[in-house]
Amino acid sequence: MTLVSLTNAIYLLAAVLFVLSLAGLSKQETARRGNVLGMVGMGLALAAVVARALNESQRAVGVTALLIALVLGIGVVVGTWRARRVEMTQMPELIAILHSFVGIAAVLVGYNSYLTGTHDGVHLVEVFLGVLIGAVTFTGSVVAFLKLSARMKSAPLTLPGRNLLNLAAVLVSCGLLAWFLAEPSVWPLALMTLIALALGWHLVAAIGGGDMPVVVSMLNSYSGWAAAAAGFMLSNDLLIVTGALVGASGAILSYIMCRAMNRSFVSVILGGFGAEEGAAAPAGGGPVGEHHEMSAADVAEALAGARSVVITPGYGMAVAKAQYPVADLVEKLRARGVEVRFGVHPVAGRLPGHMNVLLAEAKVPYDIVLEMDEINGDFDETDVVLVIGANDTVNPAALDDPSSPIAGMPVLEVWNAKQVVVFKRSMATGYAGVQNPLFFRDNTAMLFGDARDQTEKIVAALAAG
Ligand code: TAP
Repeated sequence: MTLVSLTNAIYLLAAVLFVLSLAGLSKQETARRGNVLGMVGMGLALAAVVARALNESQRAVGVTALLIALVLGIGVVVGTWRARRVEMTQMPELIAILHSFVGIAAVLVGYNSYLTGTHDGVHLVEVFLGVLIGAVTFTGSVVAFLKLSARMKSAPLTLPGRNLLNLAAVLVSCGLLAWFLAEPSVWPLALMTLIALALGWHLVAAIGGGDMPVVVSMLNSYSGWAAAAAGFMLSNDLLIVTGALVGASGAILSYIMCRAMNRSFVSVILGGFGAEEGAAAPAGGGPVGEHHEMSAADVAEALAGARSVVITPGYGMAVAKAQYPVADLVEKLRARGVEVRFGVHPVAGRLPGHMNVLLAEAKVPYDIVLEMDEINGDFDETDVVLVIGANDTVNPAALDDPSSPIAGMPVLEVWNAKQVVVFKRSMATGYAGVQNPLFFRDNTAMLFGDARDQTEKIVAALAAG
């Protein structure tokens, strides 16, 4: 067997492992296995690529091996260092910045392929599209990173005539492609790169905070297509397959996110949702009434007397790392015969499945963690709802106020329960920057403070009887 046919067989095996990995990741119970299969597939793929590179090396094999070892070494050190330090709450921004690497890699591969490859029509189109998708992905992901890490305001940038600006960028790029094909010089490629960089920046800057979940998965999809484009340029079948898998699964995820938020995909992509063109971004709004407060001891008493309790976690639970005391609380209540369940909103937190990961980490049984649609009908038979660090995902304005920036987004209808307790540190707004009328309802009480400290106090109060 030649090295090429052996590596081709390994590519095929790796592609199958990636498909199995995606299948595993679709369910919490099998997610760990999915991850392992993906890692094995990636390890095999890397080994095959390195073996081929050494075999096809045009300079001394030792020099090529050294260069590969050097870049792999740098990647492994930087990657391990960042991955070990990153907090769970910073995961979304890490993912956004990693997408930007795929984008810039596609741009660099494109230029390299243009400078060293043939200039036939098909190859030039591959180069042009690869660089275009890569450049849009690069700046789009950088803006998503800046917004998710709060280095840039999450409000949409609403330039006048923004849709026309995007359309003009696409049309000019089409013209540049025609020029590039007629006369393959670096100029049309460079001009298009600048336009695509600006387009990526503008597309994501125009998307408001509340719609960021869709952007994260959309950029995931773009990064896949950028990788597939790089695969075409490098004539690497595995990169094409892997890129297409990432691109397609990201697109499906974006669709699921859009459905969860009752948004049309096009309206999110075109950005500025919830704000008029040229108008200021939606303000947080002032208080809309009086709020009531409860102490941890009062909450413990209410829980002790309850028959059914639902916990709706949000981003604040991740910030406070409150999942561990929350798991203790659940265990204590269940031991007393209280029915406890979780209601998880599809965009709670900052990452698809964010809350499920945290709850699994704290060993909460899967069968009591329900999705929004499964639990929404049960709130009117619930005695106590604990809203732990959630805000936008439990905001009734999404249903009652058509002028709200999150209008139309399905939410957890916690206010239908007898008593609602909201754990947060202040009356501040959530990610979308909109005021939450839930906090001023008669059956809602605020439990101010860090969610972890307060939950620990409740657990202690319950233990003390
Ligand atoms: P958010 O609306 O982000 O609200 C989180 C709340 O947690 C804040 O109001 C904050 O209030 C509170 N909090 C923060 N730290 C806390 C702590 N240590 N202890 C107690 N409370 C704390 O949360 P959500 O309901 O999960 O909604 C998610 C939002 O993020 C949605 O708008 C969604 O569209 C967006 N988003 C989601 C994703 C995905 S894919 N899930 C991605 C990007 C954006 P205080 O500051 O007063 O404590």
